[in-house]
Amino acid sequence: MGFPVVRARRLRSSENMRRLVRENHITTDDLIYPLFVTNGAGINNPVASMPGVFQQSVDKILMETDEVVKLGIPGVLLFGIPAYKDSQGSSAYDENEAVQRAIGEIKQRHPDLLVIPDLCMCEYTSHGHCGILDEKGNVINDETIAVLAKIALSYAAAGADIVAPSDMMDGRVAAIRNALDANGYSNIPIMSYSAKYASGFYGPFRDVAESTPQFGDRRGYQMDPANSDEALKEVWLDIEEGADIVMVKPALPYLDIIRRIKDEFKMPVAAYNVSGEFAMVKAAAQNGWLDEKRVVMEALTGMKRAGADIIITYHAKDVAKWLKGEQ
Ligand code: PBG
Repeated sequence: MGFPVVRARRLRSSENMRRLVRENHITTDDLIYPLFVTNGAGINNPVASMPGVFQQSVDKILMETDEVVKLGIPGVLLFGIPAYKDSQGSSAYDENEAVQRAIGEIKQRHPDLLVIPDLCMCEYTSHGHCGILDEKGNVINDETIAVLAKIALSYAAAGADIVAPSDMMDGRVAAIRNALDANGYSNIPIMSYSAKYASGFYGPFRDVAESTPQFGDRRGYQMDPANSDEALKEVWLDIEEGADIVMVKPALPYLDIIRRIKDEFKMPVAAYNVSGEFAMVKAAAQNGWLDEKRVVMEALTGMKRAGADIIITYHAKDVAKWLKGEQ
């Protein structure tokens, strides 16, 4: 028997030695790239807090998907910046809106690319909350899930491959599943944002998606960062209601949650490496304080090691390039 520390060192002695015994790998197969689609034409608005991320009109989104397909990334997550907002979020199920048109056009151009619309009301309501509100400003759960089901149907009709509900209303997965099944879309999976924490790390996203709540915050319906058992309960409920893929969001501060979910349920788990996690790395890299490629690969490998099967990340195109050996 070799002294264990020495033995471990023997297997770390060179990159090829480390490759042989490496337990976890990031591959392009794991990645989903988020896109922000807006109305109009020729629009490519940069977002200050998210270098490399843009609000794009459908024509620009199509060029973006050409690159995504060329890089071998399997899917895109679509967020919408609608032409109009009202208290009922009705632009969310308007077939002439940016997201619905983008889904149709992307699928026509790239039939195999998975197009996954994010399904939530916060980008579409004038108040910026994730549902229909009562006169006190509280979300009315049951009215909201009826609207979510309606939005899901409009995405399915446009040609979506997967729908991804990102609100945290009770019973929404079942409502969406029932609506899809009743309308001939039983083949469309649901990727549910099951364990979604009330997080400060969504800050930059709310700039790009223009979805900051006009009053209050989302702590009433998103999870308390201090809780872990509760995440298992939320995931269990979503699976019971018909979720095919469950998601944890954000990723880095919640790797323990990913691991617990994977161990407990053996379901496909997605990790959302959110806007704030991206912005921190970008800011530090731009200052020369961190080696971007190294820390991104380290962070994403951490998510895989924790048990994530799928990683939704704004770094996806860069990672795919690095994996191809490009800079
Ligand atoms: C809600 C939604 C949000 C994000 C994804 N879907 C914002 C929120 O929950 O407040 C955040 C993603 C990110 O920060 O990158 N539609």
